[in-house]
Amino acid sequence: MKLFLDTANLEEIREIKKWGVLGGLTSNPTLIAREHSDIETHMKALCAEVDGPVSLETTEETADAIYEQGLQLAQVASNAVVKVAMTPDGISAGKRLADQGIPVNVTLTFSPAQAILAAEIGATYVSPFLGRLDDVGADGMYVLREICEIYEMQGYDTLVLAASLRHPMHVIEAAKAGADVATMPYSVFTQLVKHPLTDVGLEKFLSDWNKLQKELKEGVH
Ligand code: G3P
Repeated sequence: MKLFLDTANLEEIREIKKWGVLGGLTSNPTLIAREHSDIETHMKALCAEVDGPVSLETTEETADAIYEQGLQLAQVASNAVVKVAMTPDGISAGKRLADQGIPVNVTLTFSPAQAILAAEIGATYVSPFLGRLDDVGADGMYVLREICEIYEMQGYDTLVLAASLRHPMHVIEAAKAGADVATMPYSVFTQLVKHPLTDVGLEKFLSDWNKLQKELKEGVH
């Protein structure tokens, strides 16, 4: 399972990039708006910073306008992926873009039925939003498992991109469900590496090591 960051913040990207595990990036209008910078310049910078696919979301509402905007977003960089919303207009535009070989990510997906539509238009990614399903009292992970099972049975090529992940358990369960990608905010990414026993263990190793160095210097051994 590839690990993507869900952010439009360049500092966050640079930090996680250092770990060598950043597989790609997803962004959305809310995340881009938070950055308060020139949109096109910022999108180019995001694509340049990431060695992997970068999802850039359309904001138009009619099929023709989404399609035209999608063509522009695809021009931002060679690693740009066009995000379209799971609406009749979104998938209609997404189908036209996918038919032209443009990678498409169908976002705001909340059900297996919607995920089937995303696969049928030839989208590269489908993005089920787990956390937002949990927020309304539904079971996001159950929906993800259903989508993965259907895709496996049908032999769909569309990759399942588990989105709206809120904590490390979401990431673990998404991996167990067979998701191809997990996208998560910086806060969740940094939680993946944390374990209190790692901190305690490292502290002990280092203090024992430093004690030995001190004793060697003093000629104790
Ligand atoms: O970018 C799409 C998705 O991951 C949003 O997550 O936390 O706003 O529900 P969230």
